[in-house]
Amino acid sequence: MIEVDLSTTIADVTFDGYIMNASGPKCTTFQELEAIGNSQSSAIVTKSCTKEFREGNVEPRYADLPHGSIQSMGLPNLGYQAYIDMIPDLKKFNKPVIVSVSGLSLADNLEMVKAFQNTDADMIEVNFSCPNIQGKPQVAYDFEQTENALKQLRAICDKPMGIKLAPYFDMSHTTAVANIIKQYPVEFITTINSLGNTLVIDPITEAPVIKPKGGFGGLCGEYVKPVGLANVRAFRELLPESTKVIGVGGINTGTDAFEYLLAGADAVQIATTFEQQGTPAFARIETELKQLMQSKGYTKLDDAKGKLKQL
Ligand code: SIN
Repeated sequence: MIEVDLSTTIADVTFDGYIMNASGPKCTTFQELEAIGNSQSSAIVTKSCTKEFREGNVEPRYADLPHGSIQSMGLPNLGYQAYIDMIPDLKKFNKPVIVSVSGLSLADNLEMVKAFQNTDADMIEVNFSCPNIQGKPQVAYDFEQTENALKQLRAICDKPMGIKLAPYFDMSHTTAVANIIKQYPVEFITTINSLGNTLVIDPITEAPVIKPKGGFGGLCGEYVKPVGLANVRAFRELLPESTKVIGVGGINTGTDAFEYLLAGADAVQIATTFEQQGTPAFARIETELKQLMQSKGYTKLDDAKGKLKQL
C-alpha cells in the first residue's frame, strides 16, 4: 500500500497530520490538553480564554442531537494566565500549541495577545465568533468591529495569528470579510464556528434542550457541514494563498475530512465528534482519510487540496 503523507504547514509551523482538535470541547484543563497531547491530534488547541476564570453559562448547556449537538457553554475557562503557565508542559508533546483567545472586549484581546507573544505558543487564534455570551454580539458579524480589531491586533502580534470566524450565508458578507483580511493579513482563518442562536425544542418536556439564553445556542456537527464546506471554499477562493484556511464543522469521518480538503482546507479541526467519542476519534478519522486517499492513488494533501471539480 502507498503511504499517504498528511503533514501540512501553516505559517512555517509544521503539523504532522491534517486533523486537530477545535477550540471547544475537552480542551480547558491541563488534564484534557495533556490527553490531546497524547492523542493523534496534530496540534494542541486550547479552549478560548478570557482575562479571568469563567464558570461559563448555567447547565444544562450542552445536548447531543441525532446528527450533532447544540451548546451554549459561555466560554468556561481557567483565565489566560493559567494557559500561559501550561505552555512549557504542553510543548513537551512536540506538536504545535495553538492558543485561542476570546476576550470580552478588544482591550482584553489586545492584552492577552500581547501576553501570549512572550510565550512558546506556536500560534494564536483570536475567536471573533462566540455566540453564547449574553449581551456580546459576535465581532465576526460586525464588519467595522472586525476591521478595527484586526488592525489593532495585527499591529501588536508578530506570532502567526488567525481569527475564528462565524459562518456567513451571503457571498457579500464573505467578500467583505475577505477584503478586511487582505488589508490586515492573518496567517490563517478558522472557519466555521457553530451556527449561533439556533433553538432545539423537546416536544415531550415542551422546553428547549439547553437552558442558557432561553435555549438559544450554537448548532454543531453533521448539520453544519455544508455551511462549513461552503465557507472554506469561498474564503479559499477569495484570500491569497498565504492565508491558510483551517476547516471546522461536522467532520466525523475520513470522508468528511476529504471533502474539506477538496474545498481547500489546509487542516481541519474536530469538535462535536471529539466531545462524543474522545481522543480515539483523531486516529480513526486519520486512518479513514488515509485509506480513502490511498484508494484514489493520492499520496499527499496537495494531490487533492482545493481540487474540487466542477460539474
Ligand atoms: C462557548 O464556550 O460558548 C463556545 C465557544 C465558541 O462558540 O466560540
